[in-house]
Amino acid sequence: METQKIQHKNGKINIILRDRKSGTQEQQSVSTNDHFSVIDEAFAPFIGLHRMKQAMREVYATIMVNEKRRALGMTGSKQVLHMLFKGNPGTGKTTVARCLAKLYHQCNLLSKGHFIEAERADLVGEYIGQTAQKTRALIQKALGGILFIDEAYSLARGGNKDFGKEAVDTLVKHMEDHQHDFVLILAGYPLEMDRFLALNPGLKSRFPFILEFENYNTTQLMEMARQMAAKKEYQLTTDAEWKLKYLLNEKLAEEDWNFSNGRYIRNIMEQAIRQHAFRLMQSGSFTADDLFYLRAPDIQPYDVT
Ligand SMILES: Nc1ncnc2c1ncn2[C@@H]1O[C@H](COP(=O)(O)OP(=O)(O)O)[C@@H](O)[C@H]1O
Ligand SMILES: [Mg+2]
Repeated sequence: METQKIQHKNGKINIILRDRKSGTQEQQSVSTNDHFSVIDEAFAPFIGLHRMKQAMREVYATIMVNEKRRALGMTGSKQVLHMLFKGNPGTGKTTVARCLAKLYHQCNLLSKGHFIEAERADLVGEYIGQTAQKTRALIQKALGGILFIDEAYSLARGGNKDFGKEAVDTLVKHMEDHQHDFVLILAGYPLEMDRFLALNPGLKSRFPFILEFENYNTTQLMEMARQMAAKKEYQLTTDAEWKLKYLLNEKLAEEDWNFSNGRYIRNIMEQAIRQHAFRLMQSGSFTADDLFYLRAPDIQPYDVT
């Protein structure tokens, strides 16, 4: 069953679920004292990220109360939803933003709910005038959905002469014009994002929500590995788990600034699945257990180089 639509009616939240295979629909109503269930459900698949989840509840509360006030004719301007995501690589920024696009669409805050991921090269041109044009075209494409700009600080790379500045100015202009059906999320490393904001005064105040994504600890990363395996109908044996935990602790002890959290785990797990397939082909044994379990030899350190 997957969520198809979330409706707010008479203080109740109705969730319409649909089975993708059979096409059958089912409606669930959530009691009124469970006001945050929509948001909690949407972010339930994410391991850890307690601060993000709490911040999302606050965002959601702000939107809902504003809407209720406006419904009764009280002052309540439509909430600006632009956000800044600060966090190291692999801390879930992109995945959370993608999830948010779907959620906002279900809640009727965005008309289309699509997700566009962009980086410097998608916004910045090579000659005068090209940047504003490129940036405007990208915003146009993102209307009704979320425009997610990764490593946003790279827009400030070359100082005042750089065209990145033009991209920032164009973004700022349009985020106000289109604030009712367009959400801009800028993401990047915490330190670089802070420097970027310092270089562009006036930018920070346009983002009512600033979210920090923390690094994961070993327990959370292990849980992620189990979740990734289960999603593909595999399971790690106890030995495989021990080996993975050992590799993780070793990696974390290196204090490698390059360590990429969730992405590291995903890479190890994808590699393990390939390794598993290769091992089975070599052994020629394909029992249900063979096919299901990822064993210690399948877990290998992952190096980008
Ligand atoms: N809290 C989490 N729970 C489960 N998986 C996660 C979580 N955070 C990250 N991941 C996984 O880690 C990988 C990298 O996450 P991503 O969103 O691309 O990070 P970022 O955009 O911050 O670099 C993805 O495969 C994602 O599914
Ligand atoms: Mg990302």
